[in-house]
Amino acid sequence: MKTLKQHWLDRYQGAATEKLSWFQSQPQPSLNWIRANATLNSAVIDIGAGASVLVDHLLEENYTDISLLDLAGAALQISRQRLGLKAERVIWLTADITQWQPSRTYSLWHDRAVFHFLTSVEDREAYKRALLAGLEIGGTLIMATFALGGPQKCSGLPIVQYDAEKLQAELGDQFELLESLQEQHPTPTGNSQLFNWCLFRRIYSRVKSPNRACPTDKPMPILHI
Ligand SMILES: C[S@@+](CC[C@H](N)C(=O)[O-])C[C@H]1O[C@@H](n2cnc3c(N)ncnc32)[C@H](O)[C@@H]1O
Repeated sequence: MKTLKQHWLDRYQGAATEKLSWFQSQPQPSLNWIRANATLNSAVIDIGAGASVLVDHLLEENYTDISLLDLAGAALQISRQRLGLKAERVIWLTADITQWQPSRTYSLWHDRAVFHFLTSVEDREAYKRALLAGLEIGGTLIMATFALGGPQKCSGLPIVQYDAEKLQAELGDQFELLESLQEQHPTPTGNSQLFNWCLFRRIYSRVKSPNRACPTDKPMPILHI
């Protein structure tokens, strides 16, 4: 059986970038939300960036701290070649997000059509561990998945559909939903895919343990001096 990595390598090696179902020539609403929530010096990471042209636009606008992560090195290679010398202004990370341990933090985390592939609880928990380790408190999370009622598969793989409420429940109380919208993405073959887009702010957990000093059911020990 093919590995997940091989699946994605085959997709990128088997067709031109503009023919892939998820291709966007104008990466919106990503760009507008990034402009509104990140300064030109903010650390921005695109998870599962693939060969997306979002990076071209960010470089054009003079963002200075851009990282791209993808499981498929061949996808990143397409962007590297397209960018030429400008590729040196980007940090390239070939990794599986469910196994990745960030070595620094970011102020904006962008994920278009990656989290929705995680159909097991274990993989989603692993992704969230990376997210909490990599996104600073006060940072911005932009996440796009297929919407409820949208396609059930993406690139031939099963996915989980979300609306804003379901994604909020999945991410937990460290994320505050600021905005959400639905988008009909026109694919290169003339179909349409319903996406759910969410903009979150990472916050301190709103739920405080009622028994912070004594987290078990046992009574507080009495110290005899
Ligand atoms: C549907 S494509 C979206 C690409 C890009 N975000 C865009 O909007 O054009 C999904 C991307 O996620 C990558 N991917 C899938 N599973 C991944 C994982 N576990 N870790 C990192 N990248 C992954 C794939 O290689 C692919 O480039």
